[in-house]
Amino acid sequence: MSHRSWAEPWKIKVVEPIRMTSREERIAAIEEAGYNSFLLKSDDVYIDLLTDSGTSAMSDFQWAGMMIGDEAYAGSKSFYNLVNAVHDVYGYEELVPTHQGRGAEHILSQILIKDGDYVPGNMYFTTTRFHQEHAGGKFVDVIIDEAHDTASLHPFKGNIDLDKLQSLIDEVGAEKIPYISVETNVNMAGGQPLSMANLKATYELCHQHGILVMLDATRAVENAWFIKQREAGYEDKSIAAIMREICSYSDGATVSSKKDNLVNIGGFLALRDPELAKQARALLVAFEGLHTYGGMSGRDMEALARGIREMVGTDDHVRARVGQVEYLGDKLIKGGVPIIRPVGGHGVFLDAKAIMPHLPHDQFPAQALTAAIYVESGVRGMERGIVSAGRNKATGDHNYPKLELVRLTVPRRVYTQAHMDVTAESVIDVVENAEAVGGLRFTYEPESLRFFQARFEPVS
Ligand code: F0G
Repeated sequence: MSHRSWAEPWKIKVVEPIRMTSREERIAAIEEAGYNSFLLKSDDVYIDLLTDSGTSAMSDFQWAGMMIGDEAYAGSKSFYNLVNAVHDVYGYEELVPTHQGRGAEHILSQILIKDGDYVPGNMYFTTTRFHQEHAGGKFVDVIIDEAHDTASLHPFKGNIDLDKLQSLIDEVGAEKIPYISVETNVNMAGGQPLSMANLKATYELCHQHGILVMLDATRAVENAWFIKQREAGYEDKSIAAIMREICSYSDGATVSSKKDNLVNIGGFLALRDPELAKQARALLVAFEGLHTYGGMSGRDMEALARGIREMVGTDDHVRARVGQVEYLGDKLIKGGVPIIRPVGGHGVFLDAKAIMPHLPHDQFPAQALTAAIYVESGVRGMERGIVSAGRNKATGDHNYPKLELVRLTVPRRVYTQAHMDVTAESVIDVVENAEAVGGLRFTYEPESLRFFQARFEPVS
C-alpha cells in the first residue's frame, strides 16, 4: 500500500480571526508585560501556545449541549450526564465536580493529608504541590532519573522509580504516606507517559502498604495513546479500553477537564470509596459549590460530559492531536533545536539550558527565551524552569530544577499545520541567534506560584 498521511478527523465550521503585529508593537508589549508571557494581552499574540488548558475548540455536538444544559441549582440533569460519562469512560463510581483541576487537588489534599505527611509523585506539578504543601504535606519526587535527562530517549519517562518509592516507605513509614500522586503524561517532564506495567507495579506495591494511588488523569488519553504505540500487548486495544485499564490501577483521580476533556472550564475529583467521597463533598459545598455542580454551570457540565465521550470515541482524535505535536517537534529537531525527546503529548519543550549556555541559571534562561520568541514572531510560549520551580521554603533560595524549558503547548483542534510551520521557522531563527538573548532579573516576585504574576527586566 502506498503511504498515506493522517489528517484531522474534523472540518472547520467557525473561525476566529487573529491579528499580526509588528516587531515594534511586540517589543512594547513584552516590556509592558514585565517579560512574563502570562501578562501579555492575548490580542497582542499571533499564535498562542501558552497552554493547552481551556483552549480547546469544542465540537458542534458540545456546543449543542451548551444550549440544553440544565441550570437547576440542585440535581441538574447535566450533572447526571457527567456522572455517567465519567463512570463509563474512567470507571469511577463517585464524582465530585469542581471548577477546575486545582479545585479537585485542594479538596483531595485537605481530606487525605495530615501535617507532617509525605506525598510521593512522578515529578511535581505547580498547583498540585502547592495544595499538598498547603495541607501540611511534603512532596517527594519519585520519578525515574531519565525524566530529568533531556537527552534520554526512554519511551516512558513518566515512570515511577519503585526503588525510590520503596526507600521513602522504609524511611518514613507507610502510615506517613496517605497516597501517591501519579500523573499521566507528566506535564513538567515534557508530556511524557508512564507505562501500564509501571502503573500496575506501583499500584501493587502501594496496596501492600495501605497507600492509596491517586491519578492526576488530566492528560490520561494522551498517555493511553503512547501506551498503544509503545507497550507490547496494547497495539490492538482501543484508547477507550486502555483508559479504563489505566484507571483500574487507582483509587481515584483528580482531573483538570480543560485538557483531554475538550472544554474551556471544569474539572473533577473521582473516587471509589463512598466514605472518602462523603468527606470530599462536605468540603466541596464550602469551597466550590453544591455537590451537583461544584463551580460549573449546567451547560459546562453538559459540554464536559460530551467532551469526555468524544475524547475516546475514536482513536483518530488522539492520533491527530498527538500527531500535530509530533509534527512541530520533528520540524524543530530537523532545524537543529534541542528539545525534549521523545516529543511529548501536549507540547514541545525547548531545552533552554542547551540553547543558552551563556546565561547563568539565576538569570532565568527559559523566561528570557520565551520573551525573545514572542518578540520574533508573536508566538507565545511558557517558562517551565527555575521561575516555575519557586523557592525552597526552608532556605529561601531558588529551587534549581534540572530541566530549564520553554513549553510550546498546542491547543486541541485549534491550529493548522501551517501555524506549526510558522512557529517552527520563527523558533529556529531565534535559536540560531540565541547568544544575543540577555538574562533577566525580578522586579516583582510573588510569594507563591510566582511564575503567573512575576515581573522582570533585562539584566543589562
Ligand atoms: N494537573 C496537571 C497535570 C496540569 O497540567 C494542570 C494545569 C493542573 C493539574 C491544574 O488544573 O489549571 O484546571 O486548575 N495545567 C495548566 C497548564 C495550567 O498550562 O499546564 P487547572
